[in-house]
This record gives sequence, C-alpha cells and structure tokens, in this order.
Amino acid sequence: MTDLSTTYLGLTLKNPLVASASPLTKKIEGAQRLEEAGAGAIVMYSLFEEQIIHESLELDHYLTRLTDSFAEAQTYLPDLGTYHMGPDKYLDHLSAIKAAVSVPVIGSLNGVSKGGWVRYARFMQDAGADALELNMYYLSGDPDLTGQELEDTYVGLVAEVKTAITIPLAVKLSPFITSLPNFAGRLAAAGADGLVLFNRFYQPDFDLDELEVVRTLRLSDSEDLLLPLRWISILHGKVSADLALTSGVHSAQDVLKAMMAGAKVAMTASMILQDGYERLSEVLKDLNAWMVEHEYKSIKQMQGSMSQQSVNEPAAIERANYIRILNSFKDLP
Ligand SMILES: Cc1cc2nc3c(=O)[nH]c(=O)nc-3n(C[C@H](O)[C@H](O)[C@H](O)COP(=O)(O)O)c2cc1C
Repeated sequence: MTDLSTTYLGLTLKNPLVASASPLTKKIEGAQRLEEAGAGAIVMYSLFEEQIIHESLELDHYLTRLTDSFAEAQTYLPDLGTYHMGPDKYLDHLSAIKAAVSVPVIGSLNGVSKGGWVRYARFMQDAGADALELNMYYLSGDPDLTGQELEDTYVGLVAEVKTAITIPLAVKLSPFITSLPNFAGRLAAAGADGLVLFNRFYQPDFDLDELEVVRTLRLSDSEDLLLPLRWISILHGKVSADLALTSGVHSAQDVLKAMMAGAKVAMTASMILQDGYERLSEVLKDLNAWMVEHEYKSIKQMQGSMSQQSVNEPAAIERANYIRILNSFKDLP
C-alpha cells in the first residue's frame, strides 16, 4: 500500500494535492466536488482587506450620510468584480463549506496594511477554518518605499495576525523578494507556520487598437512550476515553517517534483479550472502509479530528497548553473 499522506500546518492530510484559493470554492458544490475528486485540503478564495474596508465605509455612509467623502473614498477602492461578497457572507459561506466537507478547510485573508480588517482572521477561526492563509499581495509603485520597509510591514502584519488566532497560519508570498531565505526566516519567527510559494501576479496588457490597459488572467502551465520549485528546494531545511508549492502544478510529475524539493503540499488552481475536477483524481491516480512503479512507499519518504541540501550538485540550483546554461546554448542552425 502506498501512503500518500502528508502533514501540513500540523494537520494530517490524506494526500499532498491541495486545491488552492480560486473561485471553485464560491459554491458549496465546488468544494464538495474538490473533496470528491480527492483534494487533501481546500483553501477558500480570499476575503480581501478592501472588501472589509469597503463594507465598513458603506456602514459609515449610512450612519453619517457623508455622501461626498464616501464617494471620494470609494474611488480609491479597487473594482472587486465577481469577488464582491461581503465579509459576513464570506464567513457564513466558510462555515457552510466546513460543514459540507470533511477535509481541512483553510480560510484565506488577502491584504497588506495593519488595521481593523485583521480581526477577520479571528472571525475565520470562529467560523470553523482549520488554518488560515494570509496572502500579502502588494505591488509597490512608490519610489520612496524601500524593500526593507515593505518587508518590515509584512513581518509586522504576520505577527499581528498570529496574535489574533490560535489556528495555524500560512503566509502566501510574492516571488519578488530580494533575499528570500532571510525574509522567510523572519516570517517564521513572526509566527508563520507555513509559507506558500508563490502568488502569481496577473500582468496587465495594452490593447493597441483601443489604447487601453486590459486585464489578463493567464492560467498557468507546468513551466510555471520551475520558479517555486527552485525556491522550495533552497528553503527546505533552512526555515522552520512548512513549505507549500503553488504555481504550475498540472500533473503527477509536478507533484512529485514539489515533494522532492521539500514541499509538504502541492497546490493547484489553474489545472482544475482548465481541465475540470476529474483531472485532480487522475493526477492522484498517476501519483500512486508512479510511486508503485518506482518503489516509493510513502510521500514522506521523498519529501526534501531533492532539496538543495540533498542533491549532489547544490550549485546547480543557484548561480553557477546560470553561467553553464547560457554557455551551453547552441547557435541557430
Ligand atoms: C481565477 C483565479 C482566482 C484566484 N483567486 C485567488 C484568491 O482569491 N486568493 C489567493 O490567494 N489566490 C488566488 N488565486 C491564485 C491561486 O490560488 C494560485 O496560487 C495561483 O493561480 C497559482 O497556482 P496555479 O498555477 O495552480 O493556478 C487565484 C487564481 C486564479 C486563476
């Protein structure tokens, strides 16, 4: 018997394939289908800081009728589009999903600034979340803001959220951090039980006919795995937090690579959005078959076996490889 189980954030999961935050959890049926397809755990789509602030501004508006300042304040808030579900509804929905499935459910809170919205971490715990994922998605366009200041803000936020909850906390990171191992260590020291690598940034494009900026959302493919794979491999054994890989998980091979790099779980969203829930069951079947064929008894046995500390040529994961790869490129025929 192959043992697919893993542990993540102190939770025991029946397998390491986790459904990451996506609109698939907007319906209870979506969460149930993820469970039926075999997901080891489910991360809810995010509740955004902006939604919470939006709601309290609306409340303020009704209470004080400051029409002008409300209208002005609203223009600063991003268009929440289909993500607009008020914070209280989100909590009700989280409770309903928790009641409808038996796999662990991880709540997701998305924001960057310190403030009253952080209390929703506690509300998610009270609504039944088994753990919380804090997504710190911030793209600085401010020339006066230093990297150090931004990292300090993130670390402070993690510490603040951590004091508000007793359930485990994972932090979902952007890849745009200058010295990730140092930052990862600071996050773990501030209370992060897990680090989720990486957030994908959705890049705006230009429409040359309309001369407008257009929003694009490209779903990932297995190529996108390589960035988090390298970093998980580097961080494994160096940071006291569980590592989760997200971006580019589309096959059993991708899950295996994530595990060997040192991840406790491999998360997937694009694969299911693209190929349907059944693809999740297929990947688990393929994972099992691969392990049987290669005589692996358990997932735990392979976790970290190809981390930078374990491979024969650690430099291949760092800069040395870069020079060799460039030199090995052949001229066009
Ligand atoms: C349509 C869509 C919605 C998403 N919504 C969220 C979200 O609410 N919160 C979050 O942390 N990540 C969100 N993500 C990011 C995914 O959870 C995941 O980290 C990312 O897509 C990379 O994984 P993938 O390559 O498997 O898609 C979303 C991704 C997609 C494609």
